[in-house]
Amino acid sequence: MKSKVLRIVLIAVPLGCVVFFLYMTFFHSSYEHPGRYVYMDHCASCHGEKGEGIQQLVPPLADADMARAQFDSLPCWIQSGMNGPVVVNGRTYDQPMYPTTITDIEMTNLLNYLATEMVHTDRHYKSEMVEQMMRSCRR
Ligand code: HEC
Repeated sequence: MKSKVLRIVLIAVPLGCVVFFLYMTFFHSSYEHPGRYVYMDHCASCHGEKGEGIQQLVPPLADADMARAQFDSLPCWIQSGMNGPVVVNGRTYDQPMYPTTITDIEMTNLLNYLATEMVHTDRHYKSEMVEQMMRSCRR
C-alpha cells in the first residue's frame, strides 16, 4: 500500500515538472524584455505599441533606417528631445519630440529592447557605456 503511493508520487512529481516545463516553454510567453516597460511608459503613446508611428506626425521606430544608421545618437535624442525635419524610411516628419527623463538603467534597457526587438540592429549596451553617452550630451 505504502509503496504504491510512493510509486505514484515518484512518477507524478517528475511528470508534472516535465509538463509544466513544456507548457512554460511553448505556450506561456509572458516574458517581457525589461526595456519594454520603459518603452510602453515613455514612447508608445507617440511611436505606437509596435513602433509603427502615427501617420505623417510621428516617425516609426520599427525597422527605421534613421535610428538604425545612428543608433548611438538615441540616448541624446531621447534625453534632449528632437526638433527639425527628419527623414525616416523615405518619408519626412517635422514635429518636435519632447525630452524624456529616465535613469541610466532605464535607458540601457530601453536601448537594448529597441535594438533587438524593434529597430533590429546588433548594438548592445552596458549601463556604464550609456551613462557616459548620456553625460556627453548633457550640455
Ligand atoms: C510626444 C510624442 C513622442 C514621444 C513621447 C516620443 N517621441 Fe520619438 N519622435 C517623435 C517625433 C514627432 C519625432 C520626429 C522628430 C523631428 O521631426 O525632429 C520623433 C523622432 C524619434 C526618433 C528618430 C526618428 C526615427 O523614427 O528613427 C527616434 C529614434 C525616437 N523618436 C525615439 C523615441 C523613443 C525611444 C521614445 C521614448 C523614450 C520617444 N521617441 C518618445 C515623437 C515622440
